[in-house]
This record gives sequence, C-alpha cells and structure tokens, in this order.
Amino acid sequence: MEIIIQPTALEATAIAARMVAAHLREKPDAVLGLATGSTPVSLYKELISMNLDWSGVTTFNLDEYIGLPCDHPQSYRSFMWENLFRHVNIRRENTHIPDGNAVDVPAFCRGYEDRIAAAGGIDLQVLGIGTDGHIGFNEPSSSLASRTRIKTLTQRTRDDNARFFGSVEEVPHHVITMGIGTIMEARQCLLLAFGENKTRAIAEAVEGPITASNPASILQMHPSARVFLDSESA
Ligand code: F6R
Repeated sequence: MEIIIQPTALEATAIAARMVAAHLREKPDAVLGLATGSTPVSLYKELISMNLDWSGVTTFNLDEYIGLPCDHPQSYRSFMWENLFRHVNIRRENTHIPDGNAVDVPAFCRGYEDRIAAAGGIDLQVLGIGTDGHIGFNEPSSSLASRTRIKTLTQRTRDDNARFFGSVEEVPHHVITMGIGTIMEARQCLLLAFGENKTRAIAEAVEGPITASNPASILQMHPSARVFLDSESA
C-alpha cells in the first residue's frame, strides 16, 4: 500500500487525478472502475477540466441502490451522468452501472461479472471508504472473496447516506455491489478518504489486521493500492 497524505483533500485529489489522466493517455481504451458518493466528486471535476479523450474508455461502477427509479436524483446512474459522463466524450454503451431494477438480480450480477471479464478486467479502480470500512457497498463481515451481489446496508451506512436523501427512511435498504474479490482483481486501486469521520476506518484499514470487520483492510494484500488522504483523515 502506498499512502499519499496531503494537507487538503483538493491537493490529494489533484495527484489522484493526474494518475488517472496519465493512465488514460497511456491506454486510451482503459477500463475504469468508478465510485460515487461525495469523495470522488472533485476527482471527476478535475478530470473533466483536463479535456481527456474518453471515446475509447470503458467504465464499470461499483454499486447501485436497489429499487430507486434509474432517473431518481440519488441513483448512482444519475450521479455518474451528472458528475462525469455528460461532461466528457464517453460512449454511453461503454458505461456500466449495476441495474438496481433488474428483475433477476443474481442473473444480473453474474452478467456484470461476465461483462467485466469480457472487457479484459478493470485496469484502475477508484474507491471511497465508508465510516465502517466498507468499499463498494461491501459492509463489515462481507466475504473477502465475494463477487457482485445483493447486499443489505448497515444502519450506519443508511444514516451516513441520509444526507443525500430527505430522510434516513428514504435511503434504500438494499444495493447491488461489486464484491471484494471483484475489486481485488483490478490491476490498480486508488482509494480516496477525506475528513475526520474517516480517520478510524482508515487507521484500521491501513494499520490494522486484515479482517472482514474492515473490508478495506484487504487492500493491504493488493499488489498496487494507493490511498490518498488529507491531514484530517490521516
Ligand atoms: C460508492 C461507494 C461507497 C462510498 C463510501 C463513501 O460508490 O462505493 O463505498 O465510496 O460510502 O462515501 P462518501 O464518499 O460519500 O463518504
């Protein structure tokens, strides 16, 4: 694990953005794994400002809420179009986001894994971390070998994400998420974590034992994982 600590989130994000940009320039048909939430918003802003060529890029998002209409403002599909896709020249057919309204969720999840494999695997995976150590929506106690599947959010994550909805009751209980095994197969991982509320999860992930109690701790076993922190999360 390489830990990159900067005074501010913006400075850390700028370095992460330069790494993603360098990757896209080197490999114009790269396969990116993408995250949502508040953390990567500035990363996507920075990437948009760099005027990169996204025409050959393929993306796979980590997760999506189950049961929200796909045009719901808090669906991760809406998030991605609002914060990145509509600002760059990516092809719609090259973007992949789990379908939270799939009729047969297990079949959809198997198909998602197949599509990642058919694209050649994920070159670079962007990650945030939950205050409980989740990556994607792999909550504590998730199998460290898990694949894309349905998960139930913990009350803590629903409380954390209530800020995006009108109230915690509106936060869905279920999600589709790439598994930890899926994430670990990405050739590079960039995890971004900013603010004091991430300090404990990061300390456990970076310095603690590898444990399903903190799913991000598995990144200690990843051959190329970088963790970007600001002074507060560090
Ligand atoms: C979202 C995702 C989650 C978030 C995490 C942190 O696609 O995979 O793991 O990265 O919940 O969310 P924020 O950035 O809102 O603190």
